[in-house]
Parts: sequence; C-alpha cells; structure tokens
Amino acid sequence: MEKHITVLPGDGIGPEIIAEAVKVLDRIGERYGHSFRYTYVDIGGCSIDKYGVPITEEGMELCKSADSVLLGAVGGPKWDDCPAEIRPEKALLGVRKALGLFANLRPTKLFPQLAETSPLKIEIVGGGIDLLIVRELTGGVYFGGHSTEEKDGELVATDIMPYSEHEIERIGRVAFETAMKRRKRLASVDKANVLDTSRLWRKVMHRLAAEYPEVQYSDVLVDNTAMQMIRNPAQFDVLVTENMFGDILSDEASMLTGSIGMMPSASLSEGTLGMYEPIHGSAPDIAGQNLANPLGTILSAAMMLRYSFDMAEEADAIEQAVNEVLNQGYRTGDILQEGCKKVSCSEMGDLVTAQIG
Ligand code: IPM
Ligand code: MG
Repeated sequence: MEKHITVLPGDGIGPEIIAEAVKVLDRIGERYGHSFRYTYVDIGGCSIDKYGVPITEEGMELCKSADSVLLGAVGGPKWDDCPAEIRPEKALLGVRKALGLFANLRPTKLFPQLAETSPLKIEIVGGGIDLLIVRELTGGVYFGGHSTEEKDGELVATDIMPYSEHEIERIGRVAFETAMKRRKRLASVDKANVLDTSRLWRKVMHRLAAEYPEVQYSDVLVDNTAMQMIRNPAQFDVLVTENMFGDILSDEASMLTGSIGMMPSASLSEGTLGMYEPIHGSAPDIAGQNLANPLGTILSAAMMLRYSFDMAEEADAIEQAVNEVLNQGYRTGDILQEGCKKVSCSEMGDLVTAQIG
C-alpha cells in the first residue's frame, strides 16, 4: 500500500521524536511492502518565526489532503507572549477543527516493566493499567468563543462552553463502540451537578446507553474521577468526556503509565483521516539534546497504522517491538530504573527499529 503522511515535527523535542517514529515507519514499510511518503510542514513556533503564522494555509491544505497526519509537539517559552490569534497552540486547534478530528483516543496502558517508574505505589498500578480516555476534541470551551473586555474599570474575561446534542452523540457513539471491543465498561465523566452542558451530556449518553445494553455504563463526576484515577485506576476501562475535562484527566492518567513520554494519542474524524501525536508537550528544557523519550510518538505511529491504514498486524509489530526493547532493559531518562541501560532518544528509536527486524 502507498500512503501519504503529512508530518508536523513542530517545536522543542518535536523534530527529535518525529525522526524516530519515521525511522520505525520506514522499517515497517520495508518489512511489509508499504511505501510511506512524507511531506514535512512547519507548525507552531517554528512557523511563526518563518511565516508569522503558526501554520500556513498551504500547510493546512497539505494536512487535509494527506492520508494521515503525524505531529510532534508545539509551543515553548519563546512564543508565550504571542497574541492569542497567532499562538503555536492555535495551529493545533485549527488543524483539529479543519480536519473534523472530533474523537481523541488516549490509551493509558502501563507496560508492566515500568510499574516502578510510576509515581503511584506498586499496590495501585502493579495489577496492570489499561484504560482508554475518549476525549471530545472539536467542541466545548476550546472553540466556544473567547473575549476580554473592560467593564466598570476592570478587565472581564469570558470563555463560552457550548455543546450540541449531535456533538455529544457522535463522541458517545465512538466511546460505546470502543467499549464493546474492550471490557465493555464505560464511565461518562461530567460535572452535571453544576453545568448545563454536562446535564445535556448525561441525557444524550443515557439515550445511547439504552442502545448498548451490554455495556456496563456509569456517570462519574469529574472531580471524583480525578480522585478515583489515582485511588483505584484499574476500575476503569473506557472513559468518555468533554474537551477540557479530557485534557486534564489525560495528563493525570499519563502518570499511570510511568511517564508522560509513553502515552500516544489518535485524533479521528468521521472518515479514515486522523492525526497522531504523543500527548506530551515540546519539553523545551531538554530540546536538542537527544534526551527525549520517543516511545509516545512511536506508539502514536502504531495507532496511525491501526486506525487510519487498517494495518493491525503492522501496528502490533511496533507495539511488540517497544515491549521487547523495554524487556531488554533499555530506558530513556524519564523512565530510567536501577539496573537498566540508559539510552538516548535516537538510540531508543534504533532499538525499536532493529527489533522489528
Ligand atoms: C493536548 C494539549 C493541547 C490541548 C494544547 C497544546 C492546546 O494540552 O493535546 O492535550 O489542550 O488540547
Ligand atoms: Mg493536554
């Protein structure tokens, strides 16, 4: 198969981790007879520096016309004072919206070899963690309109959080369908004791729950979810939630995997076009030093094969290679344990690539 991938390395450690994922994809191409063609596009701060905007219109078109998009990370202190309209993050949100990437899957899986690198006690994570956060990605407060105005001699800022039934229903459907393929447990996370958007969310989810009697469904308030996530994470299978709650809970969940550097994500549309990225940021403090953990990005590439290209066997091969390299005791700094061998970002990429054969 021939596939065209638009690659957005971005800022900070972005280019380093992307290079390793591309190495792995190329090896998969050789092994399984696929040809992956890459078009590189600037996004975030590097694009602001070159073109004055966080992504050019041409770049956006190249994302839309690709078979799939692979992203590193955007942002950094250098661009923190940019006006809201041209901030690096604006490009990321723009691509999500323009490509209709409403369903963000954030699998939180602990490789058992890393149980000790999690800040949580072994009693809590040792039994294995395998949950999936399904985050709504193109609605809610991220896209509801933002303003700051002067009123009665002071500044007043407003962010609007709208949700319509169809937006809730389509993400709900993704979550129920995904739960059916897993352990058939779904927790819908909201703040229905305070927010109207959450009350509507609950109503729509209950309607869907009636269509999926096999799924053991529950409503959980977001504050309680944050607590349960570290008290007893093994109770969760699939969680579905709105955009901002999902942003916050997925950072929390990443600590269950040992390091935020391990966690991949897929942002999916109604069709096969998706964008794949690690959930961590651009880590400017370690950028350019070959220290980053590329596994979250490599695992994101595996998700791309699975979800956009229907290449389950190839995706399994990448995940098994990562597992094997961890078994052999190789670790980047963020997941380093006593008795393990510390490797650089590029060495980790080489090891996974070699493992694929
Ligand atoms: C994420 C990130 C983004 C988000 C930022 C960079 C805009 O934190 O993908 O989780 O808030 O969605
Ligand atoms: Mg986030």
